[in-house]
Amino acid sequence: MNVVVIGAQWGDEGKGKVVDYLGNESQYIVRFSGGANAGHTIVNNGVQYALHLVPSGILHPNNTVYLGAAMVIDPEALFNELAMLKEHNINWEGRVFISDRAHLVLPRYRELDIQRDSMRKRPIGTTGRGIGITYALKSERDSIRLADLTWKEKMDDLEDADRAFLEPYLDRLLSMKVNLTTELWNARGKKILFEGAQGALLDLDLGTYPYVSSGFSSAAGAAIGGCIGPRAIDKVLGVFKAYSTRVGNGPMPTEFNADSQSELYNFVRDTGREYGVTTGRPRRCGYLDLVALRYACRSNSIDTLALTHLDVYDTLDTVEACIAYNIDGTIVEEFPASIEDLNKATPILKTFKGWNTSLKECRSYDDLPAEAREYVDFIELYTGTRIGIISVGFDRNDTFVRENIWK
Ligand code: GDP
Ligand code: IMO
Ligand code: MG
Repeated sequence: MNVVVIGAQWGDEGKGKVVDYLGNESQYIVRFSGGANAGHTIVNNGVQYALHLVPSGILHPNNTVYLGAAMVIDPEALFNELAMLKEHNINWEGRVFISDRAHLVLPRYRELDIQRDSMRKRPIGTTGRGIGITYALKSERDSIRLADLTWKEKMDDLEDADRAFLEPYLDRLLSMKVNLTTELWNARGKKILFEGAQGALLDLDLGTYPYVSSGFSSAAGAAIGGCIGPRAIDKVLGVFKAYSTRVGNGPMPTEFNADSQSELYNFVRDTGREYGVTTGRPRRCGYLDLVALRYACRSNSIDTLALTHLDVYDTLDTVEACIAYNIDGTIVEEFPASIEDLNKATPILKTFKGWNTSLKECRSYDDLPAEAREYVDFIELYTGTRIGIISVGFDRNDTFVRENIWK
């Protein structure tokens, strides 16, 4: 069974945590998009792991993980990450494989990424990891794939500095190279997780373009990046936070007002530890945006939602969520493509009573206080999508499922 896990907002929803949690039951994890721009955090027994390229199932010793075809992989970042895992006594050898179709990020792409973004009239605020440059070169058909490392003419064409950079990684990269279609065809019938990076609203086509990343982080991306085709996807799981966050620039209609709501802003940022895993930048925070979430559900055929960070609201007297936008006096319930409209949108909020109690020990829907259940129920009603997983803390164990995800 092939289950796709994507972010349903602007990234950092807790995908790493959810994949790690479900990875207990699945044997294969495939990261299908993005590169070292991602930062997926897993906390297990008090130890925190920050993964950027390696799929989040790696902590389970029996799992095999794959870096998919639509990923852009910086070899330096990859081997640093693998060394970090080794330091934590995570034995990854023989369990990490890379699609021969995946593209490679070279050091000068990182520099170019930073340079180009700083020269933009309206910078995107990229992570500076060379992601956009690599995807652009890929589209221009000038990038280099893992499979090309044994193509002598292609290697001869490389600039000296690029060849010199790749040289020390060649043997190790080639030893991890696989035909992902063959691997997953042979594994069909097993429980396979497809781990997305970024989020639906950072997808190149479906997101808030141009304030997006350059890959296909939506569920459809799993069909290509995972080399399996769209009809092989059995289920799509969308991870979202009880509120909204965003790193970098671009519209965010429900962002808290930094002046008039500075207390709420600081509270959510500090309680939710909302600082980027990859760049350390403070994340922008705001109300849960149900207009955007429903759009993500519909444009990604999300079957089941996973709600994270519900605990962050534990001490609030009231909790609010956005149910529509006011754009120039018009009530809008459909997520607009226009950046100008999104920038003008002011959120229309629905207020819920806070639960004012710690959710940390809750391990079932029935354990949740009535006020928290009301919030959960309303989100389901608004989005028309079942919330099947609820996370009430950052640790692996602070999680419960309401239904068997593998059914
Ligand atoms: P990802 O990119 O989607 O994997 O998410 P990140 O790892 O970038 O950011 C999520 C952050 O929230 C991490 O620091 C997690 O440890 C933390 N986290 C995940 N789920 C929960 C939760 O339910 N409650 C709280 N308080 N923190 C969570
Ligand atoms: P995970 O997988 C949050 C954002 C950047 C920037 C924009 C483009 O951890 O959820 P890029 O370097 O990709 O060209 O930057 O996308 N961005 C993310 N924001 N989480 C991520 O990944 C992100 N990956 C990219 O901040 O606004
Ligand atoms: Mg992240």
